[in-house]
Amino acid sequence: MEFFVQTYGCQMNKLDTNLVINSFVHAGFELTDQPSEADIVLINTCSVRQHAEERVLSLLGHLKHIKKTQPGIIVAVFGCMAQRLKEDLLRYEVVNIVCGPLQIPQLVGLVNKTIEQNTKLAAVSSDIRHNPQQQQSDQLDDFELLYDLAQDNLPAQAYVRVMRGCDNFCSYCVVPYVRGPEASRPPQKIIAQIKKLADAGIKQITLLGQTVNSYRYNGSSFADLLYEVSKINGIEWIKFVTCYPKNFDERIFKAMVDLPKICRYLHIPAQSGSDKILKAMSRGYTCGQYLEIIDKARDIVPDIAIAGDFIVGFPGETDEDFQKTVELVEKTQYKNCFIFKYSPRPGTRADGKLADNVPMEVKKQRNIKLLAVQEKISENLNKSFIGRTVKVLVEGTSKKSHLDKTDKQGVPQLIGRTAGDFIAVFDGPENLAGQFVDIVITKTSALTLFGQVN
Ligand code: 5AD
Ligand code: SF4
Repeated sequence: MEFFVQTYGCQMNKLDTNLVINSFVHAGFELTDQPSEADIVLINTCSVRQHAEERVLSLLGHLKHIKKTQPGIIVAVFGCMAQRLKEDLLRYEVVNIVCGPLQIPQLVGLVNKTIEQNTKLAAVSSDIRHNPQQQQSDQLDDFELLYDLAQDNLPAQAYVRVMRGCDNFCSYCVVPYVRGPEASRPPQKIIAQIKKLADAGIKQITLLGQTVNSYRYNGSSFADLLYEVSKINGIEWIKFVTCYPKNFDERIFKAMVDLPKICRYLHIPAQSGSDKILKAMSRGYTCGQYLEIIDKARDIVPDIAIAGDFIVGFPGETDEDFQKTVELVEKTQYKNCFIFKYSPRPGTRADGKLADNVPMEVKKQRNIKLLAVQEKISENLNKSFIGRTVKVLVEGTSKKSHLDKTDKQGVPQLIGRTAGDFIAVFDGPENLAGQFVDIVITKTSALTLFGQVN
């Protein structure tokens, strides 16, 4: 039988999709990239903004249509939205299975049972905040270890989860309610997993967690973990996302300087530059404290590349508050920023207490303005690469071959990323995918470095 997977959301979800794909292949199912050919459609969902949920609902509408001509098709909704809406999702006629993020090891079994019995099934946590054993379950860890080498990974790259869940409870965020309490994985398991990946030819790993810098296991910190992972032969680049700008352990920056494998890239969301808004978001730091961390980072690692996230249009955000965010973006000189319009999430404290009182039009304008500010910064930063040689890990052919219109026809355009997470596009043979290559940068835009193989 053939299965198709559609994934929404963050890297955590991409990692889960990889695990699920591999577990289905292992169980004898065949992956297809054509939903119309599939007997089973798996949807990995995101709840972080309403828009992400709307996209899932519209896919369900589309599948309802397909099911008219193919009534046997099985639809399973898994991930964050499945955990948020639980059995309610089964009310959609087209949905056969609902499966929470902590239950993904059961997904193959649920599908098999549905094939046999033709019933609707749900496997979700009934009270995810009060069942910490679920987060630490050996079943999840074993699933991770067994199925981490899936087929749609980028060549020579893998994600490795170091922790699950989140305990920060930022007032706007749904993650603690759908991914559960924070739990760090044992370092021995992480190391064993990365050794196995290295033996299979993986050269770059990205350590994943909602707040990796709060990783802690029996007295072992995230910096300790970086030193351990760095010893693994075969792994050449180590990246990590995401960091939380509170109680930041400087040893993480020292590790970047001490250990050549640790990439000098830091994703550290600020969310706002206004202390009033940061307080309403329950972020637990001021703009000044955030900038102190950035200064410390640059002090210890002068060439560090910093990326950030911002939410515009949070309840009560005035023009002055927004201006403070613009100033923070200008001061920090990010390599890039992800900017989101505030989206009220049911069940969060912000949604319960604060009216979503910034009009959509204002949110849109602030989004455009902040993007423009960041674009200038990125453009200037990227220009400084012209004439320099950078090392990239090649991901494969660039899907946007129109990126460089002056290019010769017929030569594949490849895409790669530097240790600082800058994207480079250049001509070269496809078999460079998964290799490290030196590129001389000849031209730049706000988003991309263009160059030639050195
Ligand atoms: N509305 C808009 N953006 C949000 N984010 C998280 N929750 C919301 C929300 N309710 C953004 C934050 C976070 C990123 C993953 O998504 O910026 O860092
Ligand atoms: Fe990832 Fe958050 Fe979306 Fe869940 S809700 S998939 S953790 S972005």
